[in-house]
Amino acid sequence: MVPGPGQQEPEHSEEERFLKSVTHRYHNPVAIRLGAGTVAQLPEILAGRRAVLVTFPEAEGLGLVARLRTILGDSLVAVEDRIEPNPDVSYLAAMYERFWREHARADVVIAVGGGSAIDTAKALMVGTESGRFDDLIALLATGKPFTPARVKALIAVPTTAGTGSEVTPWATIWDKAAGKKHSLHLPQTWPEVAVVDPELMLTLPASVTVQSALDALSHALESIWNVNSNPISDTYAIAAAREVIATLPALLKDPRNVELRARMALAALKAGMAFSNTKTALAHSISYEMTLRFGIPHGIACSFTLPMVLGRAVGVDPGRDAVLGAIFDENLEGAPRRLENFLHEVGVQTDFSAYGVDAEESRRMVMNALDGVRGKNFMGVRT
Ligand SMILES: [Fe+2]
Repeated sequence: MVPGPGQQEPEHSEEERFLKSVTHRYHNPVAIRLGAGTVAQLPEILAGRRAVLVTFPEAEGLGLVARLRTILGDSLVAVEDRIEPNPDVSYLAAMYERFWREHARADVVIAVGGGSAIDTAKALMVGTESGRFDDLIALLATGKPFTPARVKALIAVPTTAGTGSEVTPWATIWDKAAGKKHSLHLPQTWPEVAVVDPELMLTLPASVTVQSALDALSHALESIWNVNSNPISDTYAIAAAREVIATLPALLKDPRNVELRARMALAALKAGMAFSNTKTALAHSISYEMTLRFGIPHGIACSFTLPMVLGRAVGVDPGRDAVLGAIFDENLEGAPRRLENFLHEVGVQTDFSAYGVDAEESRRMVMNALDGVRGKNFMGVRT
């Protein structure tokens, strides 16, 4: 309403100012099935198509492969379960070439597992003309978009609550021998469907529960202190971060509680929806060197710096402060300490020194990370 003579302009909230300042886009094409027992809907989703299951080696011993064979029947044409944490070119090459030789006629890849299983499936689903993995790496090394010669559809079934890979098009392919990583992301690598079934998460060990939950928390916060943030990703991120902080301590005390597992699965899904449109920022940029050099699991490597990164984000932009305030009950001054206490409570150290990195080395690492592709997304203090 236009103010009349003598009337004052109404006060605008930071969100209203943000909405007025620029236009925004949000896009996520993944269909989502969420809830206990949804894994049984796979035959309906496949609709007669032939599928290869890509999963983690322990899935067989856990009875998961047998259960999926029963659910899928003849639609399941093969099982690939030799995946490893942090998929690396050293073993992906042989797996990729055999996959395209043996399963060229399969229509769909069903990825069942954590981020490594889903990322491996994304690498496998993109077929080169020659069927050679080197050709895929060469295409990725150009850093330019390309259209794959062949592609299979992907159905992602996460068994951890954290990665968000089920609602993003990205996969990280490591080359530990060369000390680097490749980022795969194409319009074709969005999953067609994410099946998020908390019953598959009931037996996760405490260590993996913590690592994946903190990965989700990092995704949520990193989408906020991000130059690509937008009001839609913010909404998902606030809900996700609040829910992870509220749920994780209770879940660690009661790991077989399906309701708590469902809450954490939903929080991780929302965090995935948030960063699917913003990508990550400084904490993830730092994590890559910590994982490559020290073998720190991703969920710890990308979260132990969150209090420090939060300290660099607060007070820089009123719009970002308003969103962060919604997570930390409007107490931004005390927020880094509160986040630090939360991480300590779930057994995660927040000092570089706890990981064998001294003060000078950690400063160099942060500066390096700020210059990295993801570090450039960070909107906070850069000195
Ligand atoms: Fe992550």
